[in-house]
Amino acid sequence: MRVAGAKNSVLKLMGAALLAQGTTVLNNCPEIDDVPLMQKVLEGLGCTVDRQGSRIAITVPENLSHHADFDAVRQFRASVCVLGPLTARTRNAIVALPGGDAIGSRPLDMHQSGLEKLGAKTYIHHGCVVAEAERLRGANIKLDFPSVGATENILTAAVLAEGETVLDNAAREPEIVDLCNMLVEMGAKIEGAGSNTITVQGVERLHPTEHEVVGDRIIAGTWAYAAAMTRGDVTVSGINPKYLHLALEKLKNAGAVVETYPQGFRVSMQGRAHAVNYQTLPYPGFPTDMQPMAIALAAVSEGTSVLTENVFESRFRFVDEMIRLGTDATIDGHHVMIRGKERLSSAPVWSSDIRAGAGLVLAGLCAEAGDVTEVHDVYHIDRGYPGFVETLNELGAEVERVGNR
Ligand code: UD1
Repeated sequence: MRVAGAKNSVLKLMGAALLAQGTTVLNNCPEIDDVPLMQKVLEGLGCTVDRQGSRIAITVPENLSHHADFDAVRQFRASVCVLGPLTARTRNAIVALPGGDAIGSRPLDMHQSGLEKLGAKTYIHHGCVVAEAERLRGANIKLDFPSVGATENILTAAVLAEGETVLDNAAREPEIVDLCNMLVEMGAKIEGAGSNTITVQGVERLHPTEHEVVGDRIIAGTWAYAAAMTRGDVTVSGINPKYLHLALEKLKNAGAVVETYPQGFRVSMQGRAHAVNYQTLPYPGFPTDMQPMAIALAAVSEGTSVLTENVFESRFRFVDEMIRLGTDATIDGHHVMIRGKERLSSAPVWSSDIRAGAGLVLAGLCAEAGDVTEVHDVYHIDRGYPGFVETLNELGAEVERVGNR
């Protein structure tokens, strides 16, 4: 099973293309619903976007529109990543406040205060975040929390600011490293990507590039956990296994055999998984986006697992749906205790976000033999997983898409 490029990278790379006039090409782009949405955002700003399979060519005009309006942006959170590049290029960015997954309040205070440190004035006006700057100047910025989105918006503005920016407590996710690699290919001067201090020397202009999107570690992790839950055997390629280090370590603790290769891994599980505990944390901690898979695995493991969610406060809506499937779970604040059962029992359930949807389908695979689980609102899954149903069927599951939602 080969994973395509990461959703959480490709959307930001498409946004970063705005930083250089001309045609930037991205390869290894996933076929997910958020990509055409991002395409609409870029087209609304004056770009031409040409998509041929996994290759996307974005042609950026000299004069960009500075207003990313509500229609294009509201449907997905990642659209806010155009704020940094637009501020840098147009010095007057207006970006409608985005929508996205229902996983908790997602304010933009750190995005705004970072841009303010670089010299922009920012405010919320008629449902939009506005960033105005006569000039951007490098600054020392320390984030209160290593926010992925704030790190991205600050970096994509700082690359065209005058002088040096030092960003402390920066996010360290592989998708941040991917973004920095592309920015460097475009002529940016960046050091420290992947560590918690990133230094940027501003340059006057960037040039277009051709770049390969990093593999999707969350999708790779989803197939790994699916194998452990169903006592299966899955080999995944297209991903550096070090990006999933902790998630794979947890599977080893649960009793799986994990082999790693330079660009992939194999997970096999014989017998029932043992319960393990999880704490979601910014990278390199256990990813919050893998939380539903961890809970689904815990639901059928032997023993009691405790999972602590430290990144998004509302991510336990998923647990209520898991309880419908027979999971024995108790929520206490941002902790959930799960007492594993041999099998779950089928029920109609509803996805609340991309990863919750995937987790519910995996849980359905562990229902009593002959039980059919119906997962609704699966359009969430299509936002982040290319060919989700087809992949599961290739892996030996019996999953059928019924209708379009
Ligand atoms: C990104 C990912 C998402 C992943 C998350 C954490 C994309 C499109 N989405 O989301 O899949 O789950 O990273 O790995 O890449 N926060 C503030 N103020 C801010 C910014 C963030 O309080 O200005 C808080 C958020 O409410 C949240 C936490 O910081 O509780 C983490 O958010 P952040 O890392 O910014 O996540 P996203 O970039 O939104």
